[in-house]
Order: sequence, then structure tokens, then C-alpha cells
Amino acid sequence: MSDLNALLEAEHPAAARLLSPLGRRAFMPLGVPQQAAESAQCERQASIGQITSGSGDPLALPALAEHFQGVDLRQAFLYAPTAGILALRQAWRARMGNVVGTLPIVTNGMSHGLSLAADLFGCPEHPLLLATPYWDNYDTIWNMRTGAEMRPFPIFNAERGLDIAAMGARLAELSGPACLLLNFPNNPTGYSPTEAEAHAIAARIHAHPHPLAVICDDAYAGYYFDEGCYGRSLYNLLVEGADPRRLVVCKIDGASKELLFFGGRIGFLTFSATGPAGEALVHKASAILRGTISSVSAPAQSVVLAALRDPNLAGQEEEVKGVLKRRYTALQGALAESGVDALPFNSGCFALLPLRADQNAQEVRRRLIAEQSTGVIAVESDNALRVAFCSIDESDIPDLVARIARVLHR
Ligand SMILES: Cc1ncc(COP(=O)(O)O)c(C=O)c1O
Repeated sequence: MSDLNALLEAEHPAAARLLSPLGRRAFMPLGVPQQAAESAQCERQASIGQITSGSGDPLALPALAEHFQGVDLRQAFLYAPTAGILALRQAWRARMGNVVGTLPIVTNGMSHGLSLAADLFGCPEHPLLLATPYWDNYDTIWNMRTGAEMRPFPIFNAERGLDIAAMGARLAELSGPACLLLNFPNNPTGYSPTEAEAHAIAARIHAHPHPLAVICDDAYAGYYFDEGCYGRSLYNLLVEGADPRRLVVCKIDGASKELLFFGGRIGFLTFSATGPAGEALVHKASAILRGTISSVSAPAQSVVLAALRDPNLAGQEEEVKGVLKRRYTALQGALAESGVDALPFNSGCFALLPLRADQNAQEVRRRLIAEQSTGVIAVESDNALRVAFCSIDESDIPDLVARIARVLHR
């Protein structure tokens, strides 16, 4: 354990200083998974506690196996390695364009990837800076679990431009290690930066003088609908020229939204660190994963791996992007026509409708259910309504906006 911490101190001082007490302790003993992996090629396999055929194959009960047509039963029915099926980690890395950093670790959905990053770097002494409004689960993952103080800054300024100065002002308050969360395409606003904004964010982060863990929550990666969008994760921009004495970047992405496999619970966590420092972070994250869920569902990993190898996948994804873009365009049009106000949105799944001061988001949401049979999410921090246009048929979008307008324009 101390060897890993010493290694990080030498090779990646920022990561070493950013580790939480749990992150410092995290260490994978030479336990069952490691000992079993070391003996994987042995003729007699009496290491891991799996009930098998006796020669390495699963004893798949037909009542289960019949539901896994076309899936490698050995891969799906036996334990996956702690950090995930190697071929899946490699295939996801290739999908990301072989970005600089570690091989991604497979996580139980992106929420779990975020919670691993929080476990490694989050603690009461390391505040989490993030744009508000934000996805509500960040409170649970960071503040509730690790005790990290949430330090929000507004996503937009008074002119409704991305408020990079507010992020900079929050960074300027720091004098020690901290985490910064970036989520684009954003939940709940549906905003992604332009090229110029993306570069300005990266430049401000690169100028920060203290240890900083930047968490790129790329949950909605790929869903960019306006030509002005930067259209990629900020991860690469941040990693280029990142100084290991000051910056570690974590990328969280996954199959939930990108492959529409919400219930599959397959996410990925990648660290910007390379070489032995990267391996040390993967080791630490794997130790925490082993101490919580032990390993991620092998059937779900097998199915995602099969999909990534399917030559038809890219075309199928493009089709979905086309559907979402048409829903997005319909929503932009319907909002403009009805005079319902929305904050800037150009990507992702959502639009955020700010309410008047005399309107209460929860009351309006309840009225929409009761009077218009319409479900939206109230974002109380900003007294706004989040509309998930990703789940409304294009032809129903004018009607959705009309129902909202009937309640808002009273
Ligand atoms: C911004 C953001 N990050 C992460 C997640 C979590 O995704 P998963 O379902 O893979 O845990 C969500 C889900 O809604 C999200 O909106």
C-alpha cells in the first residue's frame, strides 16, 4: 500500500496529493482474484470458488442459458475480472479513439464510476466544484458519501453565456487539493461548449496552480445537435499538456446513454495518468470496486462487447442520433413559437425552462401532472423545469410544449 502511495508521489504528485484517506488506503491484497488469475493457465484449476464443469467451462443451467443465445457462456456465466473483461476495456478504449490514459475500468454504470472517483479523491478537505444546476445524484455520490463540500458556480452568466469566469473565480478561491466536475452535454441544461469555450475552460484549468482532479462526466457523449458544439469530450483537451504535479483527469462514460443500455449498468472510468502511475490508480480503483461490488455483471459486459464488435452498431447509433436531433429541432421550434423560455441548449437529452419568480417549480410540476397529464422534473435550485425531449416522439413535441405553455402562461 505504502509502495503505491510512494510511487504516485514520485510519478504523479497531483494524484498523490489528491487521494482521500480511503484512496490512500486502497490496496488490492494478493487475494482470490489475483491468485486465480496467476493460475488461469494451469491444468488443474482449483483456485476460484466457481462451480464449473470440472474443466473450466460454466455449468450453465439450461433455464438460464437458453436466454443467452449468441453469447459466449464462458464469458457471461463465470466471474469477470475485477477491473472488467480485458477485451471490453480494450474495445471501449478504441471507441474513445485510444485516448491518452489508462485502460478504462468497467464500472456498474456511470454512477458507480463517479462514486469510485469520489472514493479516491473526495473527502471533507477536498471540495467539489461544479456548475449549477446539476444532476441531483452528485450530492449523494460526493457530499453524502465522502463529506466533500459542494461548491457550485452558475453554469450561465446573466447574458446566458457559459460562465467560465464563475468557474475561474471558484478555482481562484482554492489553496489546496480539490475536485472539479465537468458534465457536457449537460444534465439538466442540455448545453455543450463551443470550440472557443472548450479551449477557454481547458486553459483556465491548466493555469490552476494547486492539485486538481477534474472529473469529466461524459454520460451523454455523442449527442451534439448544433454545429457550434465542440462535439467531443473535454478530456483530451485537458489531458494534452496536463502537468502531473497539478492535474489528474478522470473520464466517466458508458453504455447507458451512448448505447441506450440504461439497465445494463455498464460504465467506464479512465484516468489521465500513464505508465506505473496510471496502473497504481487502476489498482486502487479496482481495490475499492472489489470491496464493494466485487465485479461488474459478466452477462452485461459480454453483451456490450458483442455490440462493440458488431459492424452494424455505428449505423444503428447514427439512426438514434438522427431521431434525437429531430426531437431537438422540433423542441427548439415549438418553444420559439409558443414563447416558452428556455436556457441555451444544443446537445444531450434535456432542455431547462426557467420559471418566473412568482412560479414554484414543484407546484408547476404537480399542476402539469394533474391538469395536463404531463411529467417533467422540477429543478428547485434554479426554479426551473427539466424537459427530457429524448423521450418524446417528434410529432408529440408541439403538444408537449402546448401543455406546458397552458400552465406557465396563466
Ligand atoms: C450526468 C449524468 N451522469 C451520470 C449518470 C449515471 O448514469 P448510469 O445510469 O450509467 O449510472 C446520469 C444518469 O442519468 C447522468 O445524467
